[in-house]
Amino acid sequence: MPNIHHLALSLCGAAVATMLQAAAGSTSAMAEEISFKDDIVPIIKGRCIDCHVPGGKGYEKSGLDLRNYEGLMKGTNFGPVVVPGDAFMSNLNVMIEGRAKNIRMPHQLKRLTSCDIDLFRRWVNQGAKNN
Ligand code: HEC
Repeated sequence: MPNIHHLALSLCGAAVATMLQAAAGSTSAMAEEISFKDDIVPIIKGRCIDCHVPGGKGYEKSGLDLRNYEGLMKGTNFGPVVVPGDAFMSNLNVMIEGRAKNIRMPHQLKRLTSCDIDLFRRWVNQGAKNN
């Protein structure tokens, strides 16, 4: 029998919960909703906000204000960075996943964990709701 502990440790919390729900036969398992307030805001507060407030270098350079949902959805001086429902096309996800050639977010700092990147991807794909 495979060692279930090692398997679980390599996955994100939400993914494990989804697996357990699926195993229990819950039909809502695959639709588990990511919450802006509970899942995304803590990551922004920990890893992005220092630079993305007025006076911070991310805000001063790009205009992106990450203090709240409205600021995130407004985007940069050049326009939105989130395309609700389409993480592949969203510059927000491009930046944190490192899909752009010369720039990644957090700027010149350690990248987000794959779990955090996954939360952003699912949140955008689920419509980038203010939930
Ligand atoms: C150390 C400071 C710093 C941190 C931390 C930081 N950023 Fe930035 N961010 C910047 C700077 C500087 C720019 C402008 C980059 C440029 O245009 O050269 C920027 C620009 C951006 C842009 C617009 C990029 C574009 O060209 O369209 C996005 C989206 C972004 N940041 C998201 C984030 C997210 C999400 C986080 C947290 C995971 C984050 N940033 C953390 C400094 C930071």
